Parts: sequence; C-alpha cells; structure tokens
Amino acid sequence: MEMMRAFVIKEPGGPERLELREMPRPTPRDGWVLIRNRAFGLNRSEWFTRRGESPSVAFPRVLGIECVGEVVAAPGCNLSGGLRVAAMMGGMGRQFDGSYAEYVLVPRRHVFPLETNLGWKILGALPEMLQTVHGSLHTSLEIERAHNLLVRGATSSIGFAAIALARAAGLKVTATTRSTTKTEELMAAGATHVLVDDGSIAHKARAIHPEGFDRILELVGATTLLDSLQAARRGGIVCMTGILGGKWVLSEFRPMEDVPTGVKLTSYSGESSDITCAQLQEYVSLVESGELTLKLGPNFPFERLHEAHTMMDENRANGKMVMEVV
Ligand SMILES: NC(=O)c1ccc[n+]([C@@H]2O[C@H](COP(=O)([O-])OP(=O)(O)OC[C@H]3O[C@@H](n4cnc5c(N)ncnc54)[C@H](OP(=O)(O)O)[C@@H]3O)[C@@H](O)[C@H]2O)c1
Repeated sequence: MEMMRAFVIKEPGGPERLELREMPRPTPRDGWVLIRNRAFGLNRSEWFTRRGESPSVAFPRVLGIECVGEVVAAPGCNLSGGLRVAAMMGGMGRQFDGSYAEYVLVPRRHVFPLETNLGWKILGALPEMLQTVHGSLHTSLEIERAHNLLVRGATSSIGFAAIALARAAGLKVTATTRSTTKTEELMAAGATHVLVDDGSIAHKARAIHPEGFDRILELVGATTLLDSLQAARRGGIVCMTGILGGKWVLSEFRPMEDVPTGVKLTSYSGESSDITCAQLQEYVSLVESGELTLKLGPNFPFERLHEAHTMMDENRANGKMVMEVV
C-alpha cells in the first residue's frame, strides 16, 4: 500500500489538534482525480472547522478546501498525468478528505486544468480566493464598470483581492479596517478612500458618496451588516460573504427598518461552479503577466501547518497564506 503524509484532526481545538500522520494514499476511482498536492492556500472555513464550528464536518478528517498540483491518475476523466490543476470546494476537506495532505482525491467537476508557469507558492494562493471574489463581485453584486464599491474588512486576503479585481474591472473602491496603521497599505492596494471601522461607518461612508454606495462587500459579517445596509444607495446591493466578526446570526432583524427602501441584500457562500475554468485561467494569466497584482501573505513548508494556523488565530497573516508541499 502506498502511503502519504497528512494532517488529520480527530477532535476540535487549537492548531496542535492537526496531527501529522502517515496514512494510505487515496486510491484512484472513476470520475475522480488523484492530485499530487504541491501547494494549498489556508482558509478561514478550515479555521472554523478546526475549532469545531462546522457542525456538518465529521471527524476524523483531513481538512483543506483547495489545492494546486499535478494529476497522478484520472480514470474516465480525460485528464493526462502530469497536467497542472487547481481543485477547490465540492465537499473537499469537509465531506471527504482534503488538501492538508500530499495527495488529494477530488471529483472531476471540481478540478480546473491550468496552463501556467507560475510557481506553486503563488498559484496555491489563487483558486479559492479568486473564486470567492469573482463570485461575490459578479454573481452576487453584479458589478458594473462605473460603480463605487465599499469593501468592509478589506485587510483580509479576500478583501485585498476584492480591491484588486474590482479595480481591474474599473470600479472605485473604498476600504475599511479597524486599524489606524493600515491606510497606506490599502491605498497602495488600490483603494481610493480608507475608513477606520469602529462598527459604525455608514455616516462616514455617506461623506464620501452622499447617495450611498452602489455596491458593498460585507466581510465582517453579522456584527456590521445592518450598518452596511445603511451605507448603500437606493438600488444598491450589499453582499455578505464573510464573517470576520465571528457572528453568523443577527439576534434581531426588522426587515422594514433594517433594509432601507430599494437596497438589496444578498450573500455569497461559494462553490467551484461559480467560476469557469476559462475565467480562472484568465485571472491566473493576468497574475502571471503582472497585469493583476494580488497581495499575498506568508508561505510555509507543509510541516509547519501549526505555525500558519497560529498566525490565523492571531490575525497576523496580512494576506493569503500558502503551504508548500514539496
Ligand atoms: N463565502 C465564501 O465563499 C468565502 C470564501 C472564503 C472566505 N470567506 C470569508 O471571508 C472572510 C475573509 O477571509 P480571509 O481568509 O480573507 O480572512 P483573513 O485574511 O484571515 O482576515 C484577517 C483580517 O480580518 C480582520 N478581522 C479580524 N477579526 C475581525 C473582527 N472581529 N472584526 C472585524 N475585522 C476583523 C482584520 O483586519 P483589521 O485588523 O485590519 O480590521 C484582519 O487583518 C472570512 O470571514 C471568511 O470566512 C468566505
């Protein structure tokens, strides 16, 4: 039996609950792709799962909802061995074992063949981040060129990527952070205005756009959502994609008062089918040619996963973190 190394979690808790183990390599089967994992981005959803906050995920489990690597075997899938691919979502690392491992077995429909010479560390940062931002901006917020966009929770990896993709699509972007020291960084990333978020920014937002914002990407979540709704213009759209504030539920929701007339509220929960292979390829090619710059966080060798999860615990990543699996 061929073996591999993987981080397995048996019970929820701190980073040390992710145990590095030898386990059997997944066996290829029809319609699924066995991938030699080369790098994977870290995601907040894995962090929630590690802490026991994903009730639908049964332990023991190998976490990890995305990876990039090379095809080892793909019976019945028309993908040749050695092909570079990305894979994400579709139950990966949740309903079946995921990418915190040297090999991953993923259903074909969640695998994206990519033509690129980007290094694994950079490529590994892209799939889930691009899918989330693309889906939020296009599927949920229906952005158009002349729109102004407020990104709430903009120093997150998703936030930085949203600034980059929105700017590339011709939007003007205002960014928020709770910190007074991150303004320059957000301006350098493409924001035209930065608001320091104390939980109540609707009035400050209206000082920038008195009618209210055309589009608002809410990454802080239920703790600030009602305030974000007050910052949108009539006909504007607010999309809840993140819950950085740690609150999934509104304790009280009075639709007639909380949702201003004509403002639309939506969400983005994310699936690999929300981005096509051609769209992902286009973004990857733009990153490769230098036309799209995404802010990346630190990367680590596979064995140092605990360190990376600790960094997530402490909000120190400042961009998308990537683990490299050599
Ligand atoms: N819907 C989807 O498909 C999908 C997919 C991926 C991620 N997400 C969500 O998107 C969000 C961003 O994920 P990420 O991985 O990019 O995050 P991240 O990079 O880990 O975000 C870190 C930043 O979050 C901010 N933050 C931390 N705690 C906060 C709090 N209590 N209130 C307000 N801001 C806080 C901090 O910014 P400041 O200190 O500068 O304020 C920090 O710099 C998460 O909620 C994640 O679950 C959703």
